[in-house]
Amino acid sequence: MASRHMFGAVQRRAFSASAKQASKVSVLGGAGGIGQPLSLLMKLNPRVTELALYDIKGGPGVAADISHINTKSTVKGYQPDADGLKQCLAGSEIVLIPAGVPRKPGMTRDDLFNTNASIVRDLAKAVADAAPEANVLVIANPVNSTVPICAEIFKSKGVYNPKRLFGVTTLDVVRASRFISQLKSTDPADENITVVGGHSGATIVPLLSQAGYSLEGKELDDFVYRVQFGGDEVVKAKDGAGSATLSMAMAGARFAESLLKAAQGQKGVVEPTFVDSPLYKSDGIDFFASKVELGPSGVEKILEVGKITPYEEKLLDACKTDLKKNIEKGKLVSVG
Ligand code: NAD
Ligand code: LMR
Repeated sequence: MASRHMFGAVQRRAFSASAKQASKVSVLGGAGGIGQPLSLLMKLNPRVTELALYDIKGGPGVAADISHINTKSTVKGYQPDADGLKQCLAGSEIVLIPAGVPRKPGMTRDDLFNTNASIVRDLAKAVADAAPEANVLVIANPVNSTVPICAEIFKSKGVYNPKRLFGVTTLDVVRASRFISQLKSTDPADENITVVGGHSGATIVPLLSQAGYSLEGKELDDFVYRVQFGGDEVVKAKDGAGSATLSMAMAGARFAESLLKAAQGQKGVVEPTFVDSPLYKSDGIDFFASKVELGPSGVEKILEVGKITPYEEKLLDACKTDLKKNIEKGKLVSVG
């Protein structure tokens, strides 16, 4: 009984702390492998007042299920008919986009481009029309290309705000932090490894040295490989049934929570994320993931990569070569 009362008190405090602002969050692809647990986590977030789920199939069913959870936010599901997407998006502060196909064993993320580019392009058009001021969080792969696609669509519609477009790379940070804690027998909650670059293979660059670690030789190579190819580990284990969904849902919810906290006035909220960035524009790289301070306007400040080792410098060089190609490919998608 005591614990029930305690839980109630904690919940009440959380609600009153966040009651300052109405925050509508919409999830496009809300009935998918990521969309369902991500929507569940958003329903559990007291900062969210309204949750809107859109999918080409199954949105209302998932929404009905989640709506029974006893937190205050309202939940509604939408489908493609009767302006469903437009209504889902209207008034959204955050739009999460996990809509798109996942990898099967043997595929690269770039192999998803042909299918996912048009899905993301069409959803971005709808966002530009119905929620032009929302923070747009792109999860659909290949992130290195789908984020530039969104930017091109927003530009073509005259609503591009680089401070509000984010490629979600949080899963790389989550993995790097978990993997180092396994190696060093530390509490993963105390680890926060910065990961910069992009979100695929060699473009994923963990900066272990900045957390005070100095692994060497095979141990360092293996760690970096595991972070760069952690997604493949899951794709292989799922054996044709898709890619990471549950860990991704946690990572997406963490990033959305960071944005909501920052929007509600919390200072010093920093997350690595893939954004329109000045850091390597002189090398022809328009988007780059680095630590970003978040604020009420989205991107508050893009932090420099900072001091890195010669080993990490080499990783960064390899990253830039691939990243540039991925970004160019996204930018070339027809916006028509
Ligand atoms: P999934 O197939 O389980 O779910 C995708 C959902 O999108 C489905 O419910 C589908 O109906 C829906 N959908 C398809 N086209 C749509 C459209 N036009 N509008 C609305 N909904 C649409 O796939 P998943 O496992 O959830 O993965 C989704 C995407 O996320 C994939 O591209 C995957 O590669 C990517 N992903 C990214 C990260 C990351 O770190 N950024 C991590 C894991 C997966
Ligand atoms: C991941 O990193 O798990 C995702 O990008 C999904 C994938 O295809 O690996």
